[in-house]
Amino acid sequence: MNTIHRLVTAVSLASLVPFAHGGEVEVLHWWTSGGEKRAADTLQRLVEEQGHTWKDFAVAGGGGEAAMTVLKTRAVSGNAPAAAQIKGPDIQEWGELGLLTDLNDVAEEAKWDELLPKQVSAAMKYDGDYVAVPVNVHRVNWLWINPDVFEKAGAKPPQSLDEFFTAADKLKAAGFMPLAHGGQPWQDGTVFEDLALAILGPEDFRKAFVDLDRDVLTGEKMVEAFAALKKLRGYVDNNAAGRDWNSATAMVMNGKAGMQIMGDWAKSEWSAANKIAGDDYQCLPFPGTQGSFAYNIDSLAMFKLSKDEDRQAQKDLARTVLEPEFQQFFNQNKGSIPVRLDQDMTEFDVCAQQSMEDFKSAAQGAGLVPSLAHGMAASSYVQGAVFDVVTNFFNDPSADPKKAAQQLAAAIQAVQ
Ligand code: GAL
Repeated sequence: MNTIHRLVTAVSLASLVPFAHGGEVEVLHWWTSGGEKRAADTLQRLVEEQGHTWKDFAVAGGGGEAAMTVLKTRAVSGNAPAAAQIKGPDIQEWGELGLLTDLNDVAEEAKWDELLPKQVSAAMKYDGDYVAVPVNVHRVNWLWINPDVFEKAGAKPPQSLDEFFTAADKLKAAGFMPLAHGGQPWQDGTVFEDLALAILGPEDFRKAFVDLDRDVLTGEKMVEAFAALKKLRGYVDNNAAGRDWNSATAMVMNGKAGMQIMGDWAKSEWSAANKIAGDDYQCLPFPGTQGSFAYNIDSLAMFKLSKDEDRQAQKDLARTVLEPEFQQFFNQNKGSIPVRLDQDMTEFDVCAQQSMEDFKSAAQGAGLVPSLAHGMAASSYVQGAVFDVVTNFFNDPSADPKKAAQQLAAAIQAVQ
């Protein structure tokens, strides 16, 4: 075959391939644990099947702080990716910078306004335009337990904070690590948030972390939440510093530890190891927070792009995210529940089914609260201020709960 002939053959072959003019989407996220990667891979596959190229921009680091730092650097140099996992109030900040593109045509065609809960669609819009697409709903207030370990220790799955500490004592006495924890600011913050929700209840939780009400931030209940955190510290091993959340999950899975306090992305690790919910492991609403649901909604915000084919790829990505097929596969692997309330849940495990039920009933009452530790309740500045105070407190055995509550209010005020 001569060169011309080869070229002609190549061109005619290309014309047979559907979507030969696919674009490229670069997607920034931090879903790098074994289980979460499987979830991200489902999105990559569905986008590639539409003839586009997926450029993975994964930045490791639970909670996404490292990913956000990298994103800022890229955006400042005029080189933002097509899509980035940006959540909650931060979407508004990026919108204000004028860097996000609108997805209104995709949203109208697929009727996003009708599919999504009102609070969710409002969070995805900047100035009335859709600039982000929600991926899922994670619940933060969960406790994960290994039932075998509990049985061996003669411990009972806890329903209240008192029962939680009783179970922790039993596990400790039987030679197990009671609580698998990773000493990283966002993990300390996640545990603190669950304790605060249990002790303050959803209404005061909202007053503290959404309204940033000084009286509640420095009040008796907040002092109690810090005191509970201090007590809990006594059940965490000395090697917790810097441990990743998925390593902590593995410790519960392999029977070294009895419990982990973590959002339901922890389930992604159990599912990836083929463990069965309700059997090999149990998910309990964090003791004392039954009826409440601290939500953490992952979402992909879309940046302005210059090439038409890349823009098309970006739109196809956004449309795919809210389609039932993706919602099912992704969420089954990610540990979260679908963000579409009309999704058929029969194929989901017992934890996801309970989560969906609790989400819907919490939404009807006062129990639905935005997670502070996962960027839903307040800006990343407030979140960072809370993490600083909580982590310093957690790592200082002589720290005083009352002072910590004062510091919390002061730190929040300083970044407002
Ligand atoms: C959260 C994020 C989850 C999960 C978790 C651990 O902030 O929303 O999807 O990745 O961090 O990294």
